[in-house]
Amino acid sequence: MNLIMLGAPGSGKGTMAKFISSDFSLPHISTGDIFRKNIKDGTELGNKVKSILDAGELVPDELTIDLVKDRLKEADCKNGFILDGFPRTLVQAEALEKFASIDSVILIDLPFEVIEERLSGRRSCPSCGEVYHTSTYKETNCQKCDASLIQREDDKLETVRARLKVYEKQTSPLIEFYKNKIFKVEGKGTPEETYAPVKKFLKEMK
Ligand code: AP5
Repeated sequence: MNLIMLGAPGSGKGTMAKFISSDFSLPHISTGDIFRKNIKDGTELGNKVKSILDAGELVPDELTIDLVKDRLKEADCKNGFILDGFPRTLVQAEALEKFASIDSVILIDLPFEVIEERLSGRRSCPSCGEVYHTSTYKETNCQKCDASLIQREDDKLETVRARLKVYEKQTSPLIEFYKNKIFKVEGKGTPEETYAPVKKFLKEMK
C-alpha cells in the first residue's frame, strides 16, 4: 500500500501515520522529520533549510522532490510506504506521479482553532521522535527513552498561523487533485477514535 497523509499542520498526520506504520508494517516517511534530523545533525541540508522551517515556510520543491524520490528507492519501501508531509504543493504532487503510484490519501479534517491548541501543547522527544501533548502527558522526559522533551521551534503561535496560511494557499488544492483517492476522517476525537475508521478502511483495501 502506498499512502499519503494529508491535512493541515497539527491535524494529527504524524500520530496517525505511526499507528498505520505499526499495524501494517509500512515505513513512515515524514519530510518534516527528515529536515529536523538534518538540522539537529548540522548537515549541509540542515543548514540550508533551518531558517525556512523556523519561519513556517516551504522548502523549495526540487530539493524536497529529490529527497523523497531517493528515499522511496530504499529497500524498506518495496511493499509500500506512508508519506507524511509530502506532497505539499501541486508541483510536488505532479512530480510524485512520475515515480510512484498512490493507492490512497488519508485526509484528516480539523478546525484551525483546535490546531492552534494541539500545536501549542505538542512536545517531542529529540532522541526517539516520540510525540506527546501536555494535556495528556505531564512529564518533562520521554516515556520511552527518558530524554528531555522539547517544543518545536515552529510551534510558536505566530509561526503556527503562518504555517496554516501556507497550508491553505499551497497544500489545500491537493484535496481536489486527489479527489478520487481521498479517505476523509474527522480529527476531533482522541487518536484512537480518529484511527478506528482509517484502520477499517485500510484492512478492507489490503
Ligand atoms: P512537518 O513536520 O510535516 O509539519 P506539519 O505538516 O506542519 O505537521 P505537524 O508535524 O506539525 O503536525 P501533524 O499533522 O503531524 O500532527 P501531530 O500528529 O504531530 O513539516 C514541518 C516543516 O518542514 C514545514 O513547515 C516545511 O517548512 C518543511 N516541509 C516538510 N515537508 C515539506 C514539503 N513536502 N515541502 C516543503 N517543505 C516541507 O499532532 C499534533 C499534536 O496533537 C501532538 O501533540 C499530538 O500528540 C496531538 N494529537 C494528535 N492527534 C490527536 C488527537 N486525535 N487528539 C488529541 N491530540 C492529538
